[in-house]
Amino acid sequence: LAKAEVELASIPEGKNVTIKWRGKPVFIRHRTESEIAEANTVNVAELRDPQQDAERVKDPKWLVMLGVCTHLGCVPIGEAGDFGGWYCPCHGSHYDISGRIRQGPAPLNLEIPEYNFQEDMLIIG
Ligand code: FES
Repeated sequence: LAKAEVELASIPEGKNVTIKWRGKPVFIRHRTESEIAEANTVNVAELRDPQQDAERVKDPKWLVMLGVCTHLGCVPIGEAGDFGGWYCPCHGSHYDISGRIRQGPAPLNLEIPEYNFQEDMLIIG
């Protein structure tokens, strides 16, 4: 099946890019040091879908996840919501800077697709 390739240098630090892969949006964020620190200060035991940030990334600088709300499948908005990450306007789910569900009806964190880094490229799929 088709893979998607993204040149990492094309995404500046602190920016989001959305690409299409297998008909779905994939969110890629080049996280800043402070965002990485924030993602790691969360008390995971209090989360609805408990996951350490380290379980969700291969390289902490790069957050790669499906842009599909785990409630009913809307596409969340980046740099929005009360937890520094994404906000789904359909029914008000807030995701943090690791894509973890923090508030609202979504049951699970945003899903992480298969991906790898090859030199200066991100290969999804
Ligand atoms: Fe995102 Fe319902 S589809 S909150």
